Amino acid sequence: MNILLIGSGGREHALAWAIVASPLCDKLFVAPGNPGIGQIARNVALKVTDHAAVIAFCRSENIGLVVVGPEAPLVAGLADDLAAAGIKCFGPKKFPAQLEGSKGFTKDICARYGIPTAAYGRFTDKAAALAYLDARGAPIVIKADGLAAGKGVTVAMDMATARDAVEGIFSGKFGGAECVIEDFLEGEEASFFVLTDGSNALPLATAQDHKRVGDGDTGPNTGGMGAYSPAPCMTPELCAEALDKIVKPTIRALQDMGHPYVGVLYAGLILTKDGPKLIEYNCRFGDPEAQVLVMRLKDDLVTLLLACCDGTLVKVSARWFDDVALSVVMCASGYPGEVVKDTEIRGLEGASAMEGVEIFHAGTAERGGRILASGGRVLNVTARGATVREARDRAYAAVDRIDWPEGFCRRDIAWRALAREEDR
Ligand code: AMP
Ligand code: GLY
Repeated sequence: MNILLIGSGGREHALAWAIVASPLCDKLFVAPGNPGIGQIARNVALKVTDHAAVIAFCRSENIGLVVVGPEAPLVAGLADDLAAAGIKCFGPKKFPAQLEGSKGFTKDICARYGIPTAAYGRFTDKAAALAYLDARGAPIVIKADGLAAGKGVTVAMDMATARDAVEGIFSGKFGGAECVIEDFLEGEEASFFVLTDGSNALPLATAQDHKRVGDGDTGPNTGGMGAYSPAPCMTPELCAEALDKIVKPTIRALQDMGHPYVGVLYAGLILTKDGPKLIEYNCRFGDPEAQVLVMRLKDDLVTLLLACCDGTLVKVSARWFDDVALSVVMCASGYPGEVVKDTEIRGLEGASAMEGVEIFHAGTAERGGRILASGGRVLNVTARGATVREARDRAYAAVDRIDWPEGFCRRDIAWRALAREEDR
């Protein structure tokens, strides 16, 4: 079968790496792809926002499955248009993709189905939002409704910051003028991934990422500075609880609304003393969590993705290597602010040849045979090992082989898991 993967980041390089390993995959095209992906699949310069062009490409290349990496095409209804054209698509349609696209949509489902999450208010009026803030007090969390590339959330420890965040949203900083204000939850964060065909749920391995830019989880939030799997804090009991109390009711809610969710559901959880609570849903794989998940997946990824599209998820299972996988995100200096671009990266071949190491490209460009940094998050140096320490040492040994003076990374990825491992 020929497959088209949409996206250009490290998550897509990792998905491509697993897809090309599948006996079911004849040719893999990636739109637009990146130079790392170009080494294992065919990059195509398709305009992904032009759904008619995507459909025409699928017809001309006899594409049997489209896999959508990022959220934006899903929120824009690419899956709907592909379905209307009779083309299989892994990823939810526009209506269910609102789980990521609209915080208010998700919170309302939680309220209706008794899904554990922070108490909240939803506002389109600034005065009402400010009054709610005053009534609840700090710490408190303010979220812009709609996609804000991870930048729409303010965790306010004091009232001045909270009021500024509300003012920002209602001045149109994030496009819309709607916000959710919710109670601050305390606990460790974990990512929980579940495949679904609309009615059945297949949990994947657990993972944790590091959102803050600096060592010790300090500094501003980012898209993710590193990840590892498994997440030791997600015990089998907590996974079962998250599945039964959070994910399954959500799948049922969308089914009840007549808009079943097909794809991967990524639940961002906070493990509070009262059990796991939902802080957000994403309608796609995490980035860089996908990078560590695919490195641990024993079964064929394409079989799993097709089972979601075909409604046959009950017939498949996902098995995992016991190994730990860990990914270090190398960024261009300045990230998550303004970054230096077009700096040259050397030494990638030597680093990726190291045992147990895969280097996924996230924001690179190729010019005249040279690899240049073209984004904020640039490389995902990913390694497998028998223990957290081994995976971590391998990943950092590979990082240290890469010659890129303008890049940086956190040096403490998986610190929590390592501390747990060394406590044992
Ligand atoms: P979100 O985009 O909703 O995942 O929020 C981004 C980050 O803000 C999360 O990863 C958490 O660290 C933090 N956050 C979001 N909601 C809450 C909450 N209710 N309580 C505490 N922290 C939160
Ligand atoms: N790693 C966080 C995300 O993909 O949203």
